[in-house]
Amino acid sequence: MPDQRLEMIDLKSIIRTVPDFPKPGIQYRDITTLLADPAALKAAVEQLAAPYRDTGVTAVAGIDARGFIFGTAVAIELGVGFIPVRKAGKLPFDTLEQDYALEYGTDTLQIHADAASEDDTVLLVDDLIATGGTAEAAISLLKRTGCNLVGAAFLVDLPDLGGADRVRSQDVPVKTLVAFE
Ligand code: PRP
Ligand code: MG
Repeated sequence: MPDQRLEMIDLKSIIRTVPDFPKPGIQYRDITTLLADPAALKAAVEQLAAPYRDTGVTAVAGIDARGFIFGTAVAIELGVGFIPVRKAGKLPFDTLEQDYALEYGTDTLQIHADAASEDDTVLLVDDLIATGGTAEAAISLLKRTGCNLVGAAFLVDLPDLGGADRVRSQDVPVKTLVAFE
């Protein structure tokens, strides 16, 4: 049962904005202030998990690194296991990999090939969606395992960058808690 007091917390006001980081003109949305606030952290995790309580989710996948924080907490909240989607070169067993575009150049995400199967219903979690490139790469990897991807949930959306719409256009339902226009 969600705690109604936690639903009253204004998560957006607890996320710090740092101007001109990592370069001039960028407004960096800093979740560390939310992580440091026990009630806000609990509220964020509960609200991310709530829509998926009766959806048959068998695992939560989170994206290296900040997606590990919320993804693991949501997995515990839903009573399921956690799948790490990692930056390249960190996973020791057989892997699937997917390149994705950065502002300058590319990066690569990997998962273990046996991380999920046709028998799994997986929820993807990350802290933030901006262009959607990172989420799209993670979704591609999860789909290649044959699992049913039930949706993708993010604490923060930057809607001007179009990532959530990009993911929705691939028939993956998206939920976000806070938007910074
Ligand atoms: C950030 C954020 C998301 C991603 C969103 O991760 O945590 O994963 O960017 O951007 P996109 O929608 O434009 O792809 P980042 O790779 O900066 O690093 P971290 O999670 O390891 O801190
Ligand atoms: Mg990240």
